[in-house]
Amino acid sequence: MRWLVTAGPTYEPIDPVRFIGNFSSGKMGYALAEALVARGAKVTLVSGPTCLPVPAGVDVVSVVTAREMLRACRAALSGVRGLIMAAAVADFRPKTVARRKIKKGAAGPAWHLELIPNPDILEELAARKKPGQVFVGFSLETHDGPRHALEKLRRKKLDAIVLNHPYEQGGIGADENEVTVIYPDGARYFIGCRPKKAVARAIVAEVWRRFNFE
Ligand code: CTP
Repeated sequence: MRWLVTAGPTYEPIDPVRFIGNFSSGKMGYALAEALVARGAKVTLVSGPTCLPVPAGVDVVSVVTAREMLRACRAALSGVRGLIMAAAVADFRPKTVARRKIKKGAAGPAWHLELIPNPDILEELAARKKPGQVFVGFSLETHDGPRHALEKLRRKKLDAIVLNHPYEQGGIGADENEVTVIYPDGARYFIGCRPKKAVARAIVAEVWRRFNFE
């Protein structure tokens, strides 16, 4: 069975030399792709900019912006058994991208950059979800984690959501992570702080158990 995994940040250009991004390293998504391959799955990994080596047996599609990630995910979605959306998608992008480098002197005493919303990739993909497909999202919170995660799970019509605790134990950019897998019925599965590769294996094992995959 084929799975679609997303990883890394997205970069949203401001001008030819600047962008808006985030601290995501891609480690969690790459580790998930590896853990799925170890379970015998075929994996398409749609990856934002990272420095990570491609795990053996994984088909990578490299993207830069959120809109490119959406297009790549749409193209890869049909026929997949499941989706794990670990990418840290930029929620906003500059309204216009300057063709030439914006000179610092041109901005005056303060630079006001106008941002517009990016598409929500998970919400858009959820609208195309086929019966039997399993969609797993991530939830990155600094406060009220379980409440926000459950709200996202319902709004994005997910089968499970992985709540990250970024400022407590590892998380974004770090080598370790501590997460809780939350289901629509409110059931929770806690995975204590450990290296991201081990967290990924535990998440995949838990998803396999919950959805009765062989
Ligand atoms: N996500 C997405 N498209 C976006 C933003 C997020 O597909 N434009 C996905 C992420 O990959 C993750 C889930 O939605 O699987 C939740 O992302 P998160 O950043 O925690 O939440 P947001 O929906 O962006 O909400 P907020 O920023 O208000 O917390």
